[in-house]
Amino acid sequence: MREERNVSLAESTTLKLGGPAKRLVHVENESELANVVSDADARGEKMLMLGGGSNLVVGDSGFDGVAVKIAASKVTPEKKAGKIHVRVDAGASWDAFVARAVGEGWSGVEALSGIPGSVGATPMQNVGAYGQEVSDTIARVYAFDRKSSQFAEFYRAECAFKYRGSRFRGDNCFVITAVEFVFDESPLGAPIRYGELSRALGVADGERAPAEKIRETVIALRRGKGMVIDAADPESVSAGSFFMNPIVDSETLAKIEIAAGAKPPSFDAGEGKFKVAAAWLIEHAGFKKGEPSGSVGISKKHALALVHRGGGTTEDLLVLARAIRDGVKSKFGVVLEVEPILVGCAL
Ligand code: EPU
Repeated sequence: MREERNVSLAESTTLKLGGPAKRLVHVENESELANVVSDADARGEKMLMLGGGSNLVVGDSGFDGVAVKIAASKVTPEKKAGKIHVRVDAGASWDAFVARAVGEGWSGVEALSGIPGSVGATPMQNVGAYGQEVSDTIARVYAFDRKSSQFAEFYRAECAFKYRGSRFRGDNCFVITAVEFVFDESPLGAPIRYGELSRALGVADGERAPAEKIRETVIALRRGKGMVIDAADPESVSAGSFFMNPIVDSETLAKIEIAAGAKPPSFDAGEGKFKVAAAWLIEHAGFKKGEPSGSVGISKKHALALVHRGGGTTEDLLVLARAIRDGVKSKFGVVLEVEPILVGCAL
């Protein structure tokens, strides 16, 4: 265990923004984690669990409590009833785990390649991309329950997974310590369910392709959108998508089409609802990629990513985000919800 005091959280976020944490504690394993968390809770000190910081916006005044980072990153596979169950410690790098899964023939996470962050953070917002969500392959989530100061386990059905959400998001009671995935063994990935990806692979929707090929293709697609962290690419200094894609009814969808004078890209979200591309709404509300061109702006590569080009503040970023939210609301009557987790700041 190692403790730092008054350390900037900017370096712990992919946005490279945010003020200092009163304390930053690095723990090696879940028993150290339990000690730090119980101790902070007993003293009424605020606690922030840090993953890769890729979905995190920290306010300029920082965090007046203890921020905790876990290093544990063991990957433990086990064969059970013809499937591979893999328990992964929370501190493991998500993309290193996906690379290993693809290499081992653990099928079902290959379309989630190139996503920054740690494994422990993925169940929080049910990380998803290119037609897959982590909830498709999660069997169980292991957590530390701050109320009872005990370890707890949640089977998939108990996790309340939904689009970019779960029972863990917004509920500070649980600190995720490990995730168990369940996979079929195959060199092929799961059936392709994303138009852009099936086109890039040259397969029909619902067909399968080699997982290695899917991984390569997804990384190339993400790179084109500035969604792969790359020190040489200032357009990748972001928290990924800043807003969620709104889910609207057919009446709202028709109103959007009238207001924009064009049909928005939308996907069936079940129960008569549609998921609309927030990036498209943003552009059709008059915001342009690459603008403004100062220290923060909309990415040149994707309208849903807000980027920090250096020398900016979280407040600068939030001013821009508020303008986008308000512009989309006044044009389309749709309120965009923030996708990353905001700490010590608000929209
Ligand atoms: N579009 C625009 N302008 C743009 C970019 C996209 O109008 O600048 C339109 C296009 O019509 C495109 C549609 O938006 O067809 C959808 O774009 P894209 O396929 O890039 O996906 P997205 O809906 O913007 C979501 C996730 C991403 C994930 C991709 C791929 C959310 C909030 N975002 O983005 O996840 O990588 O799909 O599956 O659901 C993240 O959560 O941080 C993230 C990057």
